[in-house]
Amino acid sequence: MAAHDAVEVILAKRDNHELTDSQIDWVIDAYTRGEVADEQMSALAMAILLNGMNRTEIARWTAAMIASGERMDFSTLSRPTADKHSTGGVGDKITLPLAPLVAACGVAVPQLSGRGLGHTGGTLDKLESVPGWRAALSNEEMFAILEDVGAVICAAGDGLAPADKKLYALRDVTGTVEAIPLIASSIMSKKIAEGTGALVLDVKVGSGAFMKDLATARELAETMVALGTDAGVHTVALLTDMATPLGLTAGNAIEVAESVEVLAGGGPADVVELTLALAREMLAGAGRDDVDPADKLADGSAMDAWKAMIRAQGGDPDAALPEAKELHVVAAPASGTLTRLDAMAVGLAAWRLGAGRARKEDPVQAGAGVVWHARPGDEVTEGEPLFTLLTDEPERFDRALASLEGGYDIGDGAGFTRGEIVLDRIS
Ligand code: URA
Repeated sequence: MAAHDAVEVILAKRDNHELTDSQIDWVIDAYTRGEVADEQMSALAMAILLNGMNRTEIARWTAAMIASGERMDFSTLSRPTADKHSTGGVGDKITLPLAPLVAACGVAVPQLSGRGLGHTGGTLDKLESVPGWRAALSNEEMFAILEDVGAVICAAGDGLAPADKKLYALRDVTGTVEAIPLIASSIMSKKIAEGTGALVLDVKVGSGAFMKDLATARELAETMVALGTDAGVHTVALLTDMATPLGLTAGNAIEVAESVEVLAGGGPADVVELTLALAREMLAGAGRDDVDPADKLADGSAMDAWKAMIRAQGGDPDAALPEAKELHVVAAPASGTLTRLDAMAVGLAAWRLGAGRARKEDPVQAGAGVVWHARPGDEVTEGEPLFTLLTDEPERFDRALASLEGGYDIGDGAGFTRGEIVLDRIS
């Protein structure tokens, strides 16, 4: 590999030049090995945030991050594979019903998930509220569960895209998370290295998401779809609403319970709709659009796959889920139609109640979170419960209540229309 030096690469991007393939390969490799220092990579990340990278640079940057670690290969499995990645939202428990549902339709789902940071929840934190369930699996265990059950949700091993692990932690503390080239390459390097055959991206848009407006979300989605397609992964993105939180719960155990309701054929309509929309895209990408996932929710086979998946990772799907020690009910201050419920307000409240963490090493409370008793468009009655706040530590209620203030509107409902969940599709 040609040798460069960090300052040369930083200056090139600072002065708005296109980085060469050789500069990109070198800087990612040298940073992974510790030869490029954190302060140098921070300067480069900031230069990328300010000056951007073109498609050629982003593709090379992604390839270099993939090359920093191992690649998984599921091509010897007896069924095709498909995966989904969400850019993160509030009440976004979709992976939980989706993975077993798609498995019940005959497509294997190797879902490498993350933990929550800030106001957005993490799939692994939610599943860890199931007694006995464990997130860490060896590659061999993952492969065996995929062959046996068809779905696995686990933590990505240290060997997968180690350059991204280091760079993501650095971006988190240097104000450089929100750069489209860096987000796209971070997500896609992990998904391509994971070796899925088809990929559906759920790009969230709105107050509770990284991308606050449709134009930026579309740019991120198009960048990721191009990266996936060029790497031979059948990739589609749905842009979906995250101005309003999903379902009726944000937390850990309470989101597992809501997911189980969906698998049992019930659950909130928006969660069911988005689960089915993403399942249909995953099945189409894997060449199995002959199967209707709605049938597999109705006939109980998705629930069977969920139970098998939880058991295979040491969990007891029939055990009672943990409950918070304390609860606080917020009554509706007026009667009328709930016309707005802000995803960020609810996400912050759940986080402050202990459902999320402020630092990577913090523990989360399994029982903490927020339940809302109405969705936009529903009628509410003054004095009746509007939110239930859950935590083990009652001193957390005040700050959670403060984050809900101004986070919803009740009106006469005139002119109110319920927005679409799926806003656009990019392929
Ligand atoms: N999720 C990721 O994995 N990486 C990012 O950069 C943002 C969200």
